[in-house]
Amino acid sequence: KEIYEQPEAIQQTIAQALDGNALRSDFLQEAVADFENIQQVQIIACGTSYHAGMIAKYWFEQIIDLPCQVEIASEFRYRLPVVVGNTLYLCISQSGETADTLAALRDTQKRAAAKQLNITTMAICNVTTSSMVRETNYSLLTLAGPEIGVASTKAFTTQITVLTMIALRIAKAKGTLTNSDYHRYLQELEIIPEKVEEALKTNEVTKLIAEKYKDSNNCLYLGRGYNFPVALEGALKLKEISYIHAEGYPAAEMKH
Ligand code: F6R
Repeated sequence: KEIYEQPEAIQQTIAQALDGNALRSDFLQEAVADFENIQQVQIIACGTSYHAGMIAKYWFEQIIDLPCQVEIASEFRYRLPVVVGNTLYLCISQSGETADTLAALRDTQKRAAAKQLNITTMAICNVTTSSMVRETNYSLLTLAGPEIGVASTKAFTTQITVLTMIALRIAKAKGTLTNSDYHRYLQELEIIPEKVEEALKTNEVTKLIAEKYKDSNNCLYLGRGYNFPVALEGALKLKEISYIHAEGYPAAEMKH
């Protein structure tokens, strides 16, 4: 059910940023001055939200021309990473309450304050009233509606949508994209709900594939570039739902 809600969820999420195929002038307007100053991006998240962040890394570096690190919150919070000024700390969480992500955010804020560093914090969440939204400088909502199923689905695709919208806002603030590339991205973003609608029509084929592989004991998902984190996410979904062992792997790394 939630998989089929994706086109509408993405449409609603995009409407926060787009007016037709142009970026709304009031979209994240209050964050523009901070965006102009950031020198790098640190994404912190868990599980599916972490995979969304990994995908965004490929786009952020390409679109805003800044280094972008992504780390699992439960690792980040326990390894005392160096807090660096002029960094955008971006927390991604469907619930906005995940303990590891919250702790990583709070530790970072504490250590930045102790060193008097200027950092910007931002949350991507599906819950307006969540702790993460309240405790960050800026937040942007995934308007996916309640996600009841154990496996995160529409939250994942709306997170990727929001991450693209943020990248385009930063690109606009920093002037890192040519006008034509910028408009091309916006046009592509506008038609994503239609493309998801199309993709969902493959359902009958998906059933045949599932029938063919249902008795497998192991499954490898392979992908290259941003499809590597997509492979990780596919593997996570399969093991979570079917208990079949699955692994995501960078395609070219298979030869090693
Ligand atoms: C996978 C799944 C989990 C969550 C993870 C983070 O389908 O649901 O991996 O993505 O626990 O949760 P949030 O996004 O609420 O911080």
